[in-house]
Amino acid sequence: MNNINLKETYLNFFEKKGHKIIPSAPIIPENDPTCLFNTAGMQPLVPYLKGETHPEGNRLADVQKCFRTNDLDSIGDKTHHTFFEMLGNWSLGDYFKKESIAWSFELLTKELNIPVKKLAVTVFKGNEIVPADNESADIWLSLGIKKERIAFLGEENNWWPNMEMLGPCGPDTEIFYWRSEEQVPEIFDPEDENWVEIWNNVFMQYNHEQDGTFAPLKNKNVDTGLGVERVTAILEGVTDNYKSSIWRDVIAKIEEISGLDYNDEKYTRSMRIIADHIRAIVMISGDNAGIKPSNTDQGYILRRLIRRTIRYAKNLNIDINTNWEQELAELIINKYSKYYSELEKNKEVILEVLKNEKIKFNRTLEKGLREFEKITNNIQDNVINKDLAFRLYDTYGFPIELTEELANEQGLKVDTEGFKQKFKEHQEKSRAGSEQKFKGGLASTGEMETKYHTATHLLNAALKQVLGGHVHQKGSNITAERMRFDFSHEAKMTDEEKQKVEGLVNEYIKMSIPVEKMEMKKEEALELGAEAMFIDKYGDIVTVYKIGDVSIELCGGPHVRNTSELGTFKIKKEEASSAGVRRIKAVLI
Ligand code: ALA
Repeated sequence: MNNINLKETYLNFFEKKGHKIIPSAPIIPENDPTCLFNTAGMQPLVPYLKGETHPEGNRLADVQKCFRTNDLDSIGDKTHHTFFEMLGNWSLGDYFKKESIAWSFELLTKELNIPVKKLAVTVFKGNEIVPADNESADIWLSLGIKKERIAFLGEENNWWPNMEMLGPCGPDTEIFYWRSEEQVPEIFDPEDENWVEIWNNVFMQYNHEQDGTFAPLKNKNVDTGLGVERVTAILEGVTDNYKSSIWRDVIAKIEEISGLDYNDEKYTRSMRIIADHIRAIVMISGDNAGIKPSNTDQGYILRRLIRRTIRYAKNLNIDINTNWEQELAELIINKYSKYYSELEKNKEVILEVLKNEKIKFNRTLEKGLREFEKITNNIQDNVINKDLAFRLYDTYGFPIELTEELANEQGLKVDTEGFKQKFKEHQEKSRAGSEQKFKGGLASTGEMETKYHTATHLLNAALKQVLGGHVHQKGSNITAERMRFDFSHEAKMTDEEKQKVEGLVNEYIKMSIPVEKMEMKKEEALELGAEAMFIDKYGDIVTVYKIGDVSIELCGGPHVRNTSELGTFKIKKEEASSAGVRRIKAVLI
């Protein structure tokens, strides 16, 4: 039996038991800004578990896209995944323990043909809020689960989600399967790792309130969750999830691309990580929420997953510049579109996100790895300090977790706390910088600084002219001696491009164009096509500087009156500033 059949068998079974099959909610929660990803099937149903009426009725079932980052370090073993699918069925104040347990038992033993002798269960042993769940234990006994295979455990095991989280919660009963070649022991030992949890039935009767109390919910609900990947592996008789039908073709593709063998221990972990991450990347970037790689929230997770995938692909000597990641993503999209139609719809976006982030990271990765090597060769005390970690982040785009991982592999430590502090200071500084810019731009505005300030506008315009409309200012720094200008552009500029830009700026200077200062509404300025670096930071009425037809920018000034005052413009240096951002140093002579 493969995973598609497991999903269909499950949903058909519960449909027959009067459940409405509802579509998976998006992986990015729609109405819950406190939560980055859906981590369980019940999450989108919280309002209904709390008592609202669900439009589809009070018996529901689905397969839900879930994503959990707490296990990122375990990815690469046989059983953990970042993205996974959870099958679930719910009773919203309808049936309770008796039906829920009986149906789980029926599905497992009759539909999926799992032998009863390979099953064991845990039930809640009780606390000051709820007594021991003898009722569930009795139901299990009546179905044929032996007494020795029922364990009573406490809050840390049989209360979901846990005693700390606020919201709907309750005691649960969990079903375990003996996943080993060895003889099944008569007595269930929950500590024995050969017993793996396959299904969790939560009896949600309480709401954990802000004040710490557990108030009874309006309804007695049931919330269950069964992991598709794990149960598929069990049904197919493999102990490595990646050898099940869910992953076999993905692993085969990675083998084909790399020319290496999954069963060769040197490569197994890298292949698992790539397979896991590519699927998660497709699901996150394919969600209608339109998540793009960034430095915050879901975008940061997406960026980390892509960068991690690329690093592990390098471990397999995959030529990063080929379309390997596109091929893998397409395979996943085709596989899952039947259940998640948004993947097909957003296919182009997914492929582009992957490609762009790959190009961005790949450009600095080699240099970053060399830098890392240099750093580790030179450190004295086995610790990568905050400045080094920050340099890897700022200059080479290494997420701190990547630095930690590389360090771990070599038995080194990273001053992560120090890094975080420095990161925060840096953010505050650039925020202060942008506020400063809003106030009027220059810390000191002598004659030379004013000239350089006007020169940045001309340079911005010339870069756009020569390199294209994608060029935008990303920062600038001016002293009386020189100017520095950062702008969005991927590639190193050729000598010819540099000459053209320099020539154009000098042409604008020679044209003696008057520099006009105007005040207008922000919308008007934007309609005129004015450039603006921090658009949200400006008020409703803005100052705009217009230099003939050459340039129009939102800016606090000050500027020269006429371009002819600038003298001769000369580019001194063009270099990378950070991923996707170039830097020009120039002087006026
Ligand atoms: N909500 C429960 C879980 O995620 C079923 O395990």
